[in-house]
Parts: sequence; structure tokens; C-alpha cells
Amino acid sequence: MIVDIKNTTRKLCVIGDPVLHSKSPLIQNAMIRALGLDLVYLCQPVKRGEGAQWLTAARVCGYAGFNATMPFKEELLPLMDEVEPFARQCGAVNTVSIRDGKYYGANTDGPGFLQDLEKFGLSLQGLHTVVLGAGGASKAVCLALAEKGAKVTVCNRTVKKAEELCKLAPESMTPEEFTINKLCKLSGEAGLVVNCTSLGMAGTAGEFEDLSFVDALPSGAAVYDLIYAPAETALLRRSRERGLAVSNGLGMLVWQGVLALERFVGGPVDRERAHAAALEALGEG
Ligand code: ATR
Repeated sequence: MIVDIKNTTRKLCVIGDPVLHSKSPLIQNAMIRALGLDLVYLCQPVKRGEGAQWLTAARVCGYAGFNATMPFKEELLPLMDEVEPFARQCGAVNTVSIRDGKYYGANTDGPGFLQDLEKFGLSLQGLHTVVLGAGGASKAVCLALAEKGAKVTVCNRTVKKAEELCKLAPESMTPEEFTINKLCKLSGEAGLVVNCTSLGMAGTAGEFEDLSFVDALPSGAAVYDLIYAPAETALLRRSRERGLAVSNGLGMLVWQGVLALERFVGGPVDRERAHAAALEALGEG
């Protein structure tokens, strides 16, 4: 990836611990180049607990902004001068833009998920949705779905965490156990299933022990897996073989990046062009 760096070029980056696996530099530099922006996007390891020092360093070094991944999304929030409502609701920021010495926090994970979901053409209002998992990614997905009027059931191995999450929007979200019986029962009525657990992710030991709940889904249902490595998890394969609409999480990853770039430049960009350039860089174009 060749980026034309000039004396005027503003810096962006992703911070995390660990962060070297991040696809954000590839995605963002592809978009920056496609849009002809005078920006460069770097990978910046920052040690756990040093988020506050990094904020000062980024401002002093003239960064236009940065993305944050584990473990910084929560600890940055109280350090922002302004936070968008969705990020505040999530209690987490993944995008910080720096203007006139001030920090503006946003969370583009939820909006990025919704943007990618549009390809299914689902009407989310009142849609019965089963979300698997209750971690940080699940929180962004659940709150985004709830905001669009979906009826979300959050199934988590640790039910207590699902209960905590559902307290954020109790009128739209219900906690449940993560058992095959429960999943089969819920699937009968579900229009959408979203996997936000790490089950099926490359490099982790865990796989779904039983995917029979997929067979219980109505024929018009869609299955979205936030995992994109591997490109097709066992959950997606089983769902595709059943003829259901399926998607991995690559589109969400790209869309959250497009929406972050809009925060960094302080206005709209050519979204479709940016999205296409990022997918091409990822080898998916
Ligand atoms: P992220 O930030 O990607 O959301 P996370 O906060 O670590 O990651 O959340 C991982 C999710 O995967 C959690 O919901 C976790 O369930 P617990 O809350 O019970 O830990 C879920 N998960 C991980 N391994 C699992 C397994 N073997 N079976 C079921 N759920 C699992």
C-alpha cells in the first residue's frame, strides 16, 4: 500500500494492546488513497493503562484522530471533551477525532453494523432478533438494533452479563441463557441471528457444539456473524446451506471505518467509493 506522504499530511492511527493484527491501516489507507485525502493511517501500539498519556501525545504530535481497540474503548470515554450519544450509551468509543486541541469521541461499531445490515433489506422495526454474546461488540450491535425498534433477545453463556446489557434498553432487550434448547425455541420466531461470541473464530479453541438451532429458523431469516476470519464460520456455512441470507463481519468492519473517516475529516465522504476501495484492499473487491 503506497501512501503519498507530504509535509502537510495529517496523521491517523489505530491504538490497542495488542494491535499489530489490526486491518484498520489497510482499510483506511485504501480509502484515503481512493478519496485523495492528505492523510496517512498508522498502527500504533499503546500499552494498557497508558490511554491518557497517548491522548496528550496524539494532540501534541498533531494527529487528526485515531481509532481505539482493546482495551481502550471504555477508558477513553471519560477523557473526551464531547461524546456522541450512541458512544455514550455504549460506554465505549472506537473513534477519537482531535480538533483545536479538543477530543471528540464516537462509536462507529453500531452504526457500521446497521449500515452493513442494509444489504439484507430487512425491516428492523419489531424484528425478532437473537444476539449471541454479551461482550463489547454485542453491546454495540444490541443497542443499534434496539434503536431501530428491533426486539432483541441476548443469549449469553454468562447470563448475568446479558442481564446487565439488557438494562441499557429494557423495553427492547431480554436476557436469556445460551443453551441449545433456548436457541432452538427462540429461532422459531427469529428474523435475524447475530453471532457476537468468539465461537468459530480462527485461532480460538471454541466452536458451536450444536448448530441445530439454524434448522429452526424461518426460511426468510438472516444470519450475521461478526467474525470474518475465517470468512465462513461453521454457523454461516450451515445457514447458507439451509438457503438463509448470510454475512460475515467484514462489511461491518469496513463500514465502521468509513464512518470513522467521516469523523476524522469532519464531514461526509464518498461512502460507496471508500467502501469499495477498502474491500478491494482486503481482497474482497
Ligand atoms: P468482544 O469485545 O469481541 O465482544 P468479549 O467482550 O470478550 O469480546 O465477548 C466475548 C463473548 O463471547 C462473550 O459474550 C462470551 O461469553 P461470556 O460472557 O460468558 O464470557 C462469549 N464466549 C466466548 N467463548 C464462549 C464459549 N465457549 N461459549 C459461549 N460463549 C462464549
